Amino acid sequence: MSDFTTRDLHGSSLFKNEDALDTEWLPKNLTYREAQHHGIANCIKPLLQGRNGRNCIISGAPGIGKTAAVRLVLKELEENPDVNAPDVQVLYVNCWQKNTTYKIFIELCDQLGYKFTQNKNTEDLFKIIQNIVNKKSAVFAFDEIDKVEDVDFLYSIFSDIFKKTILMITNHPQWYLTVDERIRSRLLPERIDFKPYTSEEIEGILRQRAEYAFHSGTFEDDAFALLLEKASSKADIRTGLYLLREAGLCADEQVSKKITLAHAERALTKLGEFSIKPEELLSPDAKSILEIVKVQGGKIGDLFKQYQEGGGGGTYKTFQRRVEELSAGGFVETKKVIGGKDGTTTIVTGKHKSLDEY
Ligand SMILES: Nc1ncnc2c1ncn2[C@@H]1O[C@H](COP(=O)(O)OP(=O)(O)O)[C@@H](O)[C@H]1O
Ligand SMILES: [Mg+2]
Repeated sequence: MSDFTTRDLHGSSLFKNEDALDTEWLPKNLTYREAQHHGIANCIKPLLQGRNGRNCIISGAPGIGKTAAVRLVLKELEENPDVNAPDVQVLYVNCWQKNTTYKIFIELCDQLGYKFTQNKNTEDLFKIIQNIVNKKSAVFAFDEIDKVEDVDFLYSIFSDIFKKTILMITNHPQWYLTVDERIRSRLLPERIDFKPYTSEEIEGILRQRAEYAFHSGTFEDDAFALLLEKASSKADIRTGLYLLREAGLCADEQVSKKITLAHAERALTKLGEFSIKPEELLSPDAKSILEIVKVQGGKIGDLFKQYQEGGGGGTYKTFQRRVEELSAGGFVETKKVIGGKDGTTTIVTGKHKSLDEY
């Protein structure tokens, strides 16, 4: 018997729009985040009047709509025919993927449509960006900004781009305190905090996503309730989206017209395979440092040597910054020892953090 049914062939499915269950998928509006949406838009508004914009730190735990809110505001700015958007460049960089000033500048050049970046150094690249952007104004959104190795790009943008709004998005608001005072005293960002969703809000969001994703009447009530309960207990929309999709796929596989409790239960068993450890949210560098500290803690200088011997790159300063972040995220503990036999040093020790605490 073939694995492929006629249903596969005709593409008939319970899903109306499976993409709506992707975490990247952007709804038309973000319920419960109206205040934050306005806050972000207000930082950008001065640019539309030809003035300088305001800067902003957007923070809160993972999975609570920070990226979605920023992307939605930027999309509106680009697509709204009522505003003079062509005069405002919209630039969005995920700093997890682009984690140095050089990589960020290459990415910005690319988004600005400048392709001849080969053999150009960081300074040359910035001159190109400056030339293009200073003819207009720009919104710079740096998502997951706590993952950057250096913040020179912030300094350049702040000093040499005339009219801009810089949006800095992070899961760890403490990161900003590790930024050079020289930069902080200039940026003076507003703060927009995202609080975790309540169970009712998670329910509202997941119901809406299910309406986008499935034909109406697909979900049996008890099946939906079971998945909702799991997503609420984890306070995590991503888990909820994953479960909705898995239950749908499972029902589709069985050529069922409805998603039943049995399908929902099957989806829950898959969650074990999927659930991510908080450590997996760390950058590769931070993860390898954490591995070293977990084996044996010690003086930060010694740990840096071990890290280098194991093939780790970057400067000592970058290493220190990563350790500070790990500490801010609660993955390790640091203690400064002043005036010991080796002078002042920092002792780093491991501290295992469970998913529930995250
Ligand atoms: N208020 C909301 N309405 C609809 N979907 C939401 C809402 N808040 C979050 N989401 C969805 O939850 C997922 C995680 O949100 P995201 O913006 O990526 O979180 P963060 O950037 O804070 O980690 C995304 O799929 C997003 O579309
Ligand atoms: Mg995000």
